[in-house]
Amino acid sequence: MSEHDHLICIATQTRDNAHAPFSNFRVGAALRATSGRIFGGCNIENATYGLTICAERVAVFKAISEGHRVFARIAIVADTPTLTPPCGACRQILWEFGGDLEVILANLSAEQSTHRLKALLTHPFDARLL
Ligand code: THU
Repeated sequence: MSEHDHLICIATQTRDNAHAPFSNFRVGAALRATSGRIFGGCNIENATYGLTICAERVAVFKAISEGHRVFARIAIVADTPTLTPPCGACRQILWEFGGDLEVILANLSAEQSTHRLKALLTHPFDARLL
């Protein structure tokens, strides 16, 4: 199995843990650190709605909290005919912690596409500008 397919598989499995009773929009992510570890994430919603966290940020924060800071790629899986890209907030967090990551989008019908984060977040703001 290719590295991309492996990450998509982990993201799809992690998506099963999504807590999305309000939107019913379930998302899974799998973030590959250069250490070799893979961190899964799913979206976790909340009754206030606003405290919801996306699958991508869960994966990043899990990795950071366990001491992994350098990343190669992330797979994002949702059950949509049009592949689901990361939201603006997640693009920012992915950029600040992952730089120009490879972003693999996929759905449950085995459709997939690959992007560089730089192409999804042009002219980014980050700590170098502070
Ligand atoms: N969501 C993600 O987890 N990742 C994305 O890339 C897009 C949106 C979640 C947030 C919310 O729980 C639901 O999908 C609908 O927006």
